[in-house]
Amino acid sequence: MLIDTHSHLFDDRFKKDLPAVLERAVAAGLERVMCLGIDRESSRDSVAIANQYPLVVAAVGIQPNSVAEAKPGDWHEVVRLAETEPRVVAIGETGLDRYWDKTPFAQQLEFFDRHIELARRLNKPFVIHCREAEADVVDVLRRAFATHGPVRAVMHSFSGDLATALGCLEMGLFVSFAGMLTYPNAQSLRDVAKAVPLDRLLVETDCPYLAPQPVRGKRNEPAYVAHTATLLAQLKGVSVAEIENATTQNARTLLGLAGV
Ligand code: NI
Repeated sequence: MLIDTHSHLFDDRFKKDLPAVLERAVAAGLERVMCLGIDRESSRDSVAIANQYPLVVAAVGIQPNSVAEAKPGDWHEVVRLAETEPRVVAIGETGLDRYWDKTPFAQQLEFFDRHIELARRLNKPFVIHCREAEADVVDVLRRAFATHGPVRAVMHSFSGDLATALGCLEMGLFVSFAGMLTYPNAQSLRDVAKAVPLDRLLVETDCPYLAPQPVRGKRNEPAYVAHTATLLAQLKGVSVAEIENATTQNARTLLGLAGV
């Protein structure tokens, strides 16, 4: 069993064959796939896909790079979906991004705070996108931690350093690894993954982007999360079944999947 905790199944690249993609996911042993919106339209689409396919659950949010293009009312639609749609299990993706620099940083911070508050109010976890903004993200999380205690969230497609990972673990977060972990030049990331305890690890594809090494260059899809799980098992020196059990249990706990 496996749970792909981060996918973008609404992407055009899945338009033609989503049912087949999800069949392959089930055949690969996946019990759930979370589909995350990056703006208003894709948040709606994520909910629609989750409502259509029992395998899929949704998260809604406005990703930092999409914040600049958000129109008045978009945030309210995200809030409405989060409040009213029973298959929305998390808020996001949200976070901070200094790499693309598409949205003024102050505006990214404002929206990051909004997502965190919405998650807290609705008692849902949130999903953090962090690109070249590790210190800023940890700063925001430390403030949340100081005020409200353990942070119910995941660092998605983690690509930061060990200090960042340890800081996040200290505050109660989960750390999720994507296909990048399998790339030959990602040794420092593999060293970080080794240090993340089994009870805080998650796996994801972030599909359709960044397929893992054996299928690199192809369109990524949820079934390929197995490659990342296999590599994690090697890194941690445990069986693949142990990684599957641990990451699946962690995802169930974080996302509150019982009964969804
Ligand atoms: Ni994503």
